[in-house]
Amino acid sequence: MLSGPRLLIPVLSVVAMGAWGMSIAAGSTYTFDAGIHRLALSAHVLAMVLAFGAVIVVDWVGFLWLIGKRGLHDTSRLESAAAPLIWMGLVGLLLTGAFIRPDITNPATQLKMCCVLGLMLNGISLIPAMRTLHALPGGTMFRDVAANLRARLLVALVLSQGFWWTAIVIGFANSMSRR
Ligand code: HEM
Repeated sequence: MLSGPRLLIPVLSVVAMGAWGMSIAAGSTYTFDAGIHRLALSAHVLAMVLAFGAVIVVDWVGFLWLIGKRGLHDTSRLESAAAPLIWMGLVGLLLTGAFIRPDITNPATQLKMCCVLGLMLNGISLIPAMRTLHALPGGTMFRDVAANLRARLLVALVLSQGFWWTAIVIGFANSMSRR
């Protein structure tokens, strides 16, 4: 059954890789006129605000829990409320990216695309760890969590921020250099 994490993670990962590949393939194949390009670029930025805005809040509250300033309850409730916003924003980024012609021969763009895939797979691979967290009592502090889960969460936090910031900075840098 799909609800078992054993199947869920590989299925979601394949879906994410497929969507990522199709977005890049379509983006680098088709050229749209300037009006559509401008509109899609604005929607691209809006989708980024939606997804990254939610990611920042989730990562920040996760960090506050990590340093003992918030209970687990706050973190896990916020995470489950924000997850649909993050995935909607990501779908928007992949969709709009397909209309704005990424230059995949540019090494910076290649790095950006690797970060985009990386941040999606990082998010998907976190599902079992988040389920474990949700099952713990609300008052659980970071130091009470098993060491391997703590390490897993720390790595995920660093990867999430690293991938997002790299993709965003390269996106703006590419845009500026094309003007
Ligand atoms: C996490 C996912 C992504 C983030 C955070 C992101 C972020 C950004 C940002 C901040 C910009 C600058 C917008 C501006 O200057 O107005 C941008 C531009 C752009 N993005 Fe993305 N993007 C993502 C995914 C994608 C994808 C999947 C594609 C294509 C398949 C794509 C293609 C482009 C293109 C073509 C531009 C215009 C700059 C250029 O000519 O390279 N982006 N992106």
